[in-house]
Amino acid sequence: MAVGILLVGGMGTRLMPLTKHRPKPMLTVAGLPVTEHQLAMARKAGITTVVLATSYLSGLFTPYFGDGSRWGMKLLYAVEDSALGTAGAIANAAQLLQTEDSIVVLNGDVLSSHDLSEQIRQHESNRADVTLHLTRVEDARAYGSVSMDSSGQVSAFLEKMEQPVSNIINAGCYVFKPEVIKEIPRHRVVSVERETFPQLIDSGGKVRGFLDDSYWLDIGTPKALLQGSRDLVTGIADASALRSADIAHHDAHSLIMVRAKMDSSAIIEHGSCIGIGATIGAGAYISGSIIEDGAVIGRGAKILDSYIAFGARIDENANISAQFVTDSEILSIPA
Ligand code: GDD
Ligand code: MG
Repeated sequence: MAVGILLVGGMGTRLMPLTKHRPKPMLTVAGLPVTEHQLAMARKAGITTVVLATSYLSGLFTPYFGDGSRWGMKLLYAVEDSALGTAGAIANAAQLLQTEDSIVVLNGDVLSSHDLSEQIRQHESNRADVTLHLTRVEDARAYGSVSMDSSGQVSAFLEKMEQPVSNIINAGCYVFKPEVIKEIPRHRVVSVERETFPQLIDSGGKVRGFLDDSYWLDIGTPKALLQGSRDLVTGIADASALRSADIAHHDAHSLIMVRAKMDSSAIIEHGSCIGIGATIGAGAYISGSIIEDGAVIGRGAKILDSYIAFGARIDENANISAQFVTDSEILSIPA
């Protein structure tokens, strides 16, 4: 059975100040950390052993995820003292997995409803070195763009180019043959996107594309983070993780976690989620937003398309639109 590595060591720079004290994968979307949604996706494909490859704020994962038994999984932790890059992180994490089975690697900031079981099946039946999940976007400049021939062989991989080779991009989910990971140089920064994949393609390696156009989103920007949460709440994205979550109420408009103290006159809509133990005052209106665990929203406050972080308090009758609010900072979310 395939095993997994989750790349969760990046700095999450584009999500500051939310990522000042929390790594990006621990931010809440639809009531749960991004990582929890990804683990549920891996679990659904039969993966029960996963290494979290951590670096930035590494200590914040273990208290929440522990040994994984709560999710019927075995979780291990690989810590990089200084970030090793995506390939360095994979090589470092793979040491904890003495396995001959396929190794599935997931970027830690992606929500995807693609068929991972089928990606693994194709990888194994093709005896590929690596099989990349690919998706199509309108503008590929911020991604790894990929060209593929009619047989499914990837012929070029170009990371973040002004002139992308196609609108087909690397969706950040790879199935590796373990031998390929053993070839990654150790103890230095190595990028899978800029070194490993291009070199493997140049040297005639079997790098295959698995093109799947189901729901896919990189939540690495403020706007995307909110979008991802709304899509999980409204059911556009696969939200398997919610099946085992502590939920008080969930419908197509809102998700309310347990112990939230909601006044019955408050209106929660457009895919908003309200975290565990949050307080929502009388007459408050919350649309398209994330209210994290324990946040307090005063009476009559209006919150539109915003992220109200753990520990934040919003005054009575405040008007908050497209903002990140933490316990000490407020920042506008760019359009
Ligand atoms: N452990 C560890 N160590 N993790 C890392 C490191 C590291 O040194 N560097 C990055 N990561 C993790 C990040 O936490 C994130 O989950 C993932 O690797 C990808 O890094 P991002 O910084 O989010 O990269 P990106 O979004 O600009 O580009 C990547 O994702 C795109 C799809 O969303 C690339 O893989 C692109 O090719 C791809 O198209
Ligand atoms: Mg990203």
